[in-house]
Amino acid sequence: MSPIGVFDSGYGGLTVLREFVDRLPQYDYLYLGDNARSPYGTRSFETVYRYTLQCVEWLLKQDCPLIVLACNTASAKALRSIQQNDLERLNPAARVLGVIRPTTEIIGKHTTTNSIGVLATTGTVQSGSYEIEIEKFFPQVRLTQEACPMWVPLVENNEHTTDGADYFVRKHIANILSRDKDIDTLLLACTHYPLLREKIEKYLPKNVKLLSQGEIVTHSLQDYLQRHHEIEGTISKEGRRAFYTTDSAEDFTNKASIFFGETVNAVHLDLQQ
Ligand code: DGL
Repeated sequence: MSPIGVFDSGYGGLTVLREFVDRLPQYDYLYLGDNARSPYGTRSFETVYRYTLQCVEWLLKQDCPLIVLACNTASAKALRSIQQNDLERLNPAARVLGVIRPTTEIIGKHTTTNSIGVLATTGTVQSGSYEIEIEKFFPQVRLTQEACPMWVPLVENNEHTTDGADYFVRKHIANILSRDKDIDTLLLACTHYPLLREKIEKYLPKNVKLLSQGEIVTHSLQDYLQRHHEIEGTISKEGRRAFYTTDSAEDFTNKASIFFGETVNAVHLDLQQ
């Protein structure tokens, strides 16, 4: 098996994998969730880099020719270092991609007011990655970011559909819209947030377009694979999926269907060994 590796700090990347599997079902996929050490969103650069690198190393050892960091926090804080400093040593033929670049490449096409809002973890907001990348592709865009530190724990604890979640959703939507009244495009820049979509829409004016990354990243992956035959040709294509978690396999198996929309059978991975 030479699958596409899909990595997230926990469950969030499963929302991205869902879209990969729906649109590109022919490939084999190997998912790794670092649940034992999630959330990443509040951790330092050094820690997110160290954890992500360890997971990428493991995925490379499983013969993944291509790895997608389906996590904004890891894409913001670890991707560049891994691409520039580690990949050459670990496996120069393999590729590691993130979710921020494909999103920022197209996001400006959605706005007519040139005002875009980004909802993300504290780590992603503080990294400045969205500002830097959007500036490259759409310098005319005015960007407003809002960190929503409670949203990942709400989703991870299956509280995202409860009345309690409304308080935190309403608060952050009101905050970001009060900082720029012209926002007409709002990005869910955390792979956990699509689970809160229904609640977010409840507090969002109808003229604001809500974007989540699964579809965007899938289009970008498809395009990448069409352009890179040397990578595409090495990926195994039997439609197999395998799921690993650094925490309890039983917990992962129980919760994953909320994110993935179908039952999975997870295997525990001890990265300390
Ligand atoms: N899913 C991760 C992201 O997209 C965040 C979850 C976490 O904080 O670990 O940023």
